[in-house]
Amino acid sequence: MATGPMRYLEAGSGRPMVLLHAFPLGAEQWLPQLARPPMGWRLIAPDLRGFGGSPWMGDVASASMDRYAADVFDLMTHLDVPRASVAGLSMGGYVALAMMARDAERITGLVLADTRATADSPEARAARDRMIELVRREGSPGVAREMVDKLLGESTRTQQPDLVDAVVTLVEANGPEGVEAAIRAMRDRPDRTELLAAIDCPTVVICGGQDIVTPPEECEAMSRQIRGAQFVRLDGAGHLANLERPIEFTAALA
Ligand code: MLT
Repeated sequence: MATGPMRYLEAGSGRPMVLLHAFPLGAEQWLPQLARPPMGWRLIAPDLRGFGGSPWMGDVASASMDRYAADVFDLMTHLDVPRASVAGLSMGGYVALAMMARDAERITGLVLADTRATADSPEARAARDRMIELVRREGSPGVAREMVDKLLGESTRTQQPDLVDAVVTLVEANGPEGVEAAIRAMRDRPDRTELLAAIDCPTVVICGGQDIVTPPEECEAMSRQIRGAQFVRLDGAGHLANLERPIEFTAALA
């Protein structure tokens, strides 16, 4: 598949860390971290293929986590960044694990936030197919309506209405092709559980205490399968923990 232009945001200076966004958001998900980068870190946040300012290229049926992983490595090469820490939230975590599987040598540290290593269950795969029908019918606004309550924790939904609106705006900005491609890539992603035991770089697993998509108990159990990994639970946050508890999330990144 052709490599196309990839938009990215960047802030800070020092050791590189690539920030990989969740589905169906974009690089702007990381604005709180980019606004105050942790001391000594250069943050690089791409729009994955088909999100934000990175156009979808190719056939949606060819989408895969491995394709996104290759795109991110290409961006690192383009930026003359041979090795970097990688932080992925939810779908971004699936991409981070795909990068690990593809070329672990290029990854110096790993942050897995609100994500899982297992593949989709048959029920989850059927739900993805329904989501594909929804995006074909209604585009991103339909997906935003369906997902926003799951993405943000109960505390955020009651106490931070502006953040709810900002997430809806971010989701609605994405074109239907890229969104469908990502749903297919998530539905068909392989199980990466066996990879966890092979991870040998410093790793932090973060999860919002109110995350109902990838619950904290599941994230903590995943962290126990990675040698030496730390687990950080952010109470009061849901699935998009970096937006809901930005200061605490950035501290965990650092
Ligand atoms: C995400 O936040 O990236 C998605 O909700 C992950 C998923 O649906 O598996």
